[in-house]
Amino acid sequence: MRAKDFIPKPYQNAKIEGKVTWSSPSNIALVKYWGKREPQLPENPSISFTLSNCKTITTLGYSKRENDGKFSFEVVLDGEKKDAFKPKIETFFNRVEAYLPFLKDYHFKIETQNTFPHSSGIASSASGMSALALCLMNIEQTLVAPHDTPGGGQGAYDESYFFKKASFLARLGSGSACRSVEGPLVVWGTHDKIVGSSDLFGVTYPFEVHPNFSNYQDVILLVDKGEKQVSSSVGHNLMRDHPFAQERFHQAHYHLTALKKIFKEGNLEAFIGIVEREALTLHAMMMTSMPYFILMKPNTLKIINAIWSFRAKTGLKVCFTLDAGANVHVLFPENETKQVLEFINNELVAYCENGNYICDQIGYGAKKL
Ligand code: PMV
Repeated sequence: MRAKDFIPKPYQNAKIEGKVTWSSPSNIALVKYWGKREPQLPENPSISFTLSNCKTITTLGYSKRENDGKFSFEVVLDGEKKDAFKPKIETFFNRVEAYLPFLKDYHFKIETQNTFPHSSGIASSASGMSALALCLMNIEQTLVAPHDTPGGGQGAYDESYFFKKASFLARLGSGSACRSVEGPLVVWGTHDKIVGSSDLFGVTYPFEVHPNFSNYQDVILLVDKGEKQVSSSVGHNLMRDHPFAQERFHQAHYHLTALKKIFKEGNLEAFIGIVEREALTLHAMMMTSMPYFILMKPNTLKIINAIWSFRAKTGLKVCFTLDAGANVHVLFPENETKQVLEFINNELVAYCENGNYICDQIGYGAKKL
C-alpha cells in the first residue's frame, strides 16, 4: 500500500457530534527503531511485544463547527486541562490532515488517562498517539459511505483496512505508536523476509511463534522517573550524520532475520543474545552520536550486572531490554515468573526509585471501550 491509499473519498455522511473511547497499550521493542527520515519513516525495521497493562485510555468527543481553517481542540489529562500537550497534537493534526480531511470541521475534546503514573519515565506517546488515531478512525468510519469503502464492508471500513490506517496515522504522531494498535508481536519497517511489512504502518508478525513466547512477561523497573534530558526525536535525528548508522541499520535487518528462526524454534538463549545486544546497541548509538549523551544511570548498569549474575547462577532465561531512558524492562518466560519476581524483590527493587516497578506481559493490542 502507498500513503495515498489512505486518502479517503469525499465523505457522504454528516455526523454532528459524538464520543468514542479507545484503550491502547504501550509496546517494547526487541529490535529497536532508532533513526528516521521524513515523514516519520524508519531507517530500519523493528519488532516489538505489545504490552497489556501499561496503556492509555482516550475518549474523543467531537462536535461539528464552522471550518475557519484552523484546528480546534482541547486536551484533558486525568481530569485536568493539559495545554502543554497541544503543540504535539497540533503537529500530529497537521501531519494527518490530508488523510483525515474532516479534522477542521469539528471541535475535539481529547480526554486521556494512563494506567501508569505519568512521572514514571515510561513514554506515553506510543499508547497515547495510537489511542487518539483509533478514535479518529472511528469517527471517519461513520463519515464514509457504505459502498465507497476501501475493502468494502457494510457502511464501515473492513477490519484490516481500519487497523492499517489507524497504525499509519499513529506513526505520524509518534513512530513507535504504529506498533501499539495490534499484538502480540508487531513489525514496522520493510524487511525482505517479512511478508506485508511496510515503512508506513505496523503489521502483526505473520509467522509461527513457539509457545515459549506465550504470555512472555515484562517487569519494568523504574530506575529514574524524571524527564529525559534528550528526547527521542533529537536522538533519531542524530542518526543522520552518525558514523555507524549504515552498519546499525544493516544489523537491525540481520537481527530480524535471525529472530524469525528463534521465534519458530523457541530458542530462548539465542533470543536473549539478540534482545540484549539490541538494547546495548541503541544506547551505544546515543553514546557515539555528536553531540553524545548517556541515558542510562548507574542503577541501570547495576541491574544489568545483577541480571547477568542471576542468569549465570540459575540458568533461567531472564534478560533485559531498554528503551530511550534509564528504566529497565526485565523479560522472561511465563513459567519462570515465581523465581524472577523473587529475584526482583530481593535484589533489584533496591535500584528502583522509591522501590517502584510495574508488572506487565505481552498483550493483544488496542480495544474499543
Ligand atoms: O517512537 P519514538 O519516536 O518515541 O521512538 C522510540 C524509540 C525507541 O523506543 C528507543 C525504540 C523503539 O523501537 O521503540
